[in-house]
Order: sequence, then structure tokens, then C-alpha cells
Amino acid sequence: MEKRRQDRVVFRKGRKTVLRPLCSSDVPLLMKWINDPEVQQYILGYLPAGEEAEKEWVKKAAAMNPRGTPMDIVFMIETLSGKPIGTMGLHQIDWKNRNATTGTLIGEKRYWGKGFGTDAKLALLEYAFNHLGLHKINSSVIEYNDRSRMYSLKCGYKVEGRRKSMVFVKGRFWDVVLLGVLKEDFEKIWKLYQKTGNVR
Ligand SMILES: CC(C)(COP(=O)(O)OP(=O)(O)OC[C@H]1O[C@@H](n2cnc3c(N)ncnc32)[C@H](O)[C@@H]1OP(=O)(O)O)[C@@H](O)C(=O)NCCC(=O)NCCS
Repeated sequence: MEKRRQDRVVFRKGRKTVLRPLCSSDVPLLMKWINDPEVQQYILGYLPAGEEAEKEWVKKAAAMNPRGTPMDIVFMIETLSGKPIGTMGLHQIDWKNRNATTGTLIGEKRYWGKGFGTDAKLALLEYAFNHLGLHKINSSVIEYNDRSRMYSLKCGYKVEGRRKSMVFVKGRFWDVVLLGVLKEDFEKIWKLYQKTGNVR
């Protein structure tokens, strides 16, 4: 049982997860997750990630463009009892066209498929749509990542297309499935989730 911390940082709280800012003490965990081949097969990273690279990534997670507006906003996902299990963020934020791309990595594999990703993603989308004023959030998934595609669909994303032979992994090329969610599609799911804890 993880300890509850009095000084806990909570940026957003869902039914199963908390989103909080990343901090430098997260670097060892990030290294563990990103270098794990079982995790890495689902993301685009392919190089060994050392301490300096991860420190830099944490710094860049709050990167500002020259006008001072963030292009990336990244969170640590924790369980309600305070265990860090992965990261989730908004990337390539386009403030003019009000869209962004999400990226998620639950590195603690025993938490896969138990609703933590869906819960954190809904909290992130609520922030993106209702607080940042974004209008559309995009995502892309390697074709064999059924879990990621399923959880995105649960959160309101729709498949918008497919880019053929985009990623070389495991000795061959794979397609990438393109997904997107509009604010109005998210809102129906969000209302239901708040009321019942279910998305359908
Ligand atoms: C993708 C990820 C964020 C999803 O989070 P999660 O907590 O595992 O997902 P959830 O449990 O909320 O939802 C997964 C859904 O997919 C379903 N699912 C799981 N494995 C599946 C499979 N092999 N085929 C089809 N559906 C599957 C689950 O049943 C669940 O749907 P349900 O609630 O209707 O049963 C997480 O698994 C992860 O980080 N994986 C490794 C890295 C990764 O893939 N990142 C995303 C890159 S695009």
C-alpha cells in the first residue's frame, strides 16, 4: 500500500488517477519505462535513453516558444494512492488552430488494461478543452497497438485515416492509425463518465 503524502501535488484528479507536473526526481522512473522493450514497442522512441536525455526531456516538457506560450504540457500520472505509473501530455500545441497531439506512456505494465489510461486521458481532455480552449486533439497509434486504439475510442476519438508503412519495428514496416477527438464528442463521454464512472 503506497503512503499518502500530505504535501502531494495534485494538478487534476480523476476517479482513478491524479495528474501532476513532472519533477527532476522522476528521471529514474522515466528511464526505467522508456528503455523497457515491452513499452518501447508501442512508442516511436528507439534509442537508449540515458539520465541526461531524460533530464533534458523533463526540462523540455515545459518548453516555451519564443512568444512564451507552451508547446508541450506533460504530466506524471499517479494512482489515487500516489504511485507514479506513467506520463501523459499535450504536444505540438497549435494555439492559433486550437489543436494538439496527445502522447501517453503507462510504464508500470501491471496497470495496463485497468482503466487508468482512460481516466487520466479524460482528465487531460477536460483540461485541454475547457481550460486551454483547445478544439481538437489528435493522436496516432501503431497498427498493432490495440489497447491504445481501444482506449482512445473510449475517450471519444475517431479513426480519421491510416498512413501506410510508416514505422519500422520488429523487422517490418507497420501502418500508423490516425485518430482525433473534437470537443463536442468528448463532452458527451465526459458527462457520462462523471455521472457513472463509465464511458458508455
Ligand atoms: C495505451 C495505454 C495508455 C492505455 O491505457 P490503459 O490504462 O492500459 O487503457 P484502459 O484500461 O483505460 O483501456 C484499454 C481498453 O483496451 C482494451 N484492450 C486491452 N488490450 C486489448 C487488446 N489486446 N485488444 C483489444 N482491446 C484491448 C481494454 O479491454 C480496455 O477497454 P475496455 O475498458 O472496454 O475493456 C497504456 O496501455 C500504455 O501506456 N501502454 C504502453 C505505451 C503505449 O501504448 N502508449 C500509447 C502509444 S500511442
